[in-house]
Amino acid sequence: MRILIIGNGAREHIITERLSEDSSVLSIMSKKNPAIAKISEDYYICDITNTSEVKAWASGKNIDLAFVSPDPVLAVGMSDALEELGIPVASPSKDVADIECNKEFARSLMQDHLIPGLAEYRLITNEKEALSAIKEFNNSVAIKPIGLTGGKGVKISGDHFTNVNEGMSYVKELLLKDKKLLIEEKLKGEEFTLQAFSDGNSLVFMPPVQDHKRAFENDEGENTGGMGSYSTGKILPFMNESDLEKAKIIMKKTIDALKKERSPFKGVLYGQFMLTKDGPKIIEYNARFGDPEAMNVLSLLQTSLTDIFLGISEGKLPNAVFSSNSTVVKYLVPNGYPSKPIKDSPVSINLPCLSSKGTNMYYASVYEKDNQIFTTSSRAFALISSSKLLKDAEIKVENSMNCISGPLWHRKDIGTENLIDKRIKHMDKLRGEKK
Ligand SMILES: Nc1ncnc2c1ncn2[C@@H]1O[C@H](COP(=O)(O)OP(=O)(O)O)[C@@H](O)[C@H]1O
Ligand SMILES: [Mg+2]
Repeated sequence: MRILIIGNGAREHIITERLSEDSSVLSIMSKKNPAIAKISEDYYICDITNTSEVKAWASGKNIDLAFVSPDPVLAVGMSDALEELGIPVASPSKDVADIECNKEFARSLMQDHLIPGLAEYRLITNEKEALSAIKEFNNSVAIKPIGLTGGKGVKISGDHFTNVNEGMSYVKELLLKDKKLLIEEKLKGEEFTLQAFSDGNSLVFMPPVQDHKRAFENDEGENTGGMGSYSTGKILPFMNESDLEKAKIIMKKTIDALKKERSPFKGVLYGQFMLTKDGPKIIEYNARFGDPEAMNVLSLLQTSLTDIFLGISEGKLPNAVFSSNSTVVKYLVPNGYPSKPIKDSPVSINLPCLSSKGTNMYYASVYEKDNQIFTTSSRAFALISSSKLLKDAEIKVENSMNCISGPLWHRKDIGTENLIDKRIKHMDKLRGEKK
């Protein structure tokens, strides 16, 4: 098989690595990821959201299958564009990628099809509606743009603004820019990610993962692309089996609704949930793998990813087997990240050190010049270790962080017993409040 993959982060690095086990990979990147370039039989650097440029390069390359990975590329209809060339795709078409790209559509779909797990929300088109929604939700709200914002658009009361005036000034900004927005009740609980392969009819679920969006230890500071994540390969320590079952039902009903209203969703459906005292509620859907979560699950995948992608494109999804190990991912980010990252710093990677510690490394946003790797302003490297026990995977990855040297830092608390304990107690407390 000759498979084309579009994207150039750590998420795409592991996808490329897994595909290359039994396929030839061709890649299109917006910036050269040195590791993806090395694995690829051929690669091309361009504006990956430019459908004509991508089509021009891809045509005549005898590509059997394509996988479009990042959301801005799905949003321009790249899957549809490649299908026009006769290339089968394992990623969603534009009309169903809307489940991520249009938060208003995602909510109205859930509402119209009576899908459980929908938080209370209001569609806002003027200041008066916004004020009354904020009041209705007792000043405890999430203010959300409708479209993609690279993870930087949502503002939460108490976290990003403290009073109605500050909230309203963000509302005004969004009204001016987009003419509408969403105001949602602020949910209390623990967030988790559930990803599934979808051929449009059935879903094959991957193990649930918990990501850490906040920059600093103890979940303080700004939101980031994700500082790291963990998974036990089974249920997360703060969940019950029934929570996971409910989340699966929500996602399955969403796929069925998409098929009825638009078209079959082919690709990876990512459910971002808040586990509340009343069960799992949808924070948002993504139409792709998460980054870092892709690394937790794809490291455990025992079925050929090529076979799964082929099954997605043909509407005949095979079962996927995952080993039940625990995994911990930690991102190394440039000093000063996220507010004032220091870019263009040289870093050195000690590969024998990483392999002696049993840790894998994936390149995120770095570049190579004269045989030297440099940082950019984004996350630099993702390190991942796995082990039977979560605490062993955490110790293993933490002990490997110094195999990479340079002006970089990481969150030391991800996957530690201390933080996991806090998560369990948080959920117990919320559930206790219910009784
Ligand atoms: N209703 C909500 N209640 C509490 N927190 C929320 C709510 N909606 C979003 N958040 C927080 O804001 C983050 C970003 O929101 P999300 O809807 O995922 O938007 P995006 O990832 O597109 O920026 C979430 O990861 C979550 O931490
Ligand atoms: Mg999100």
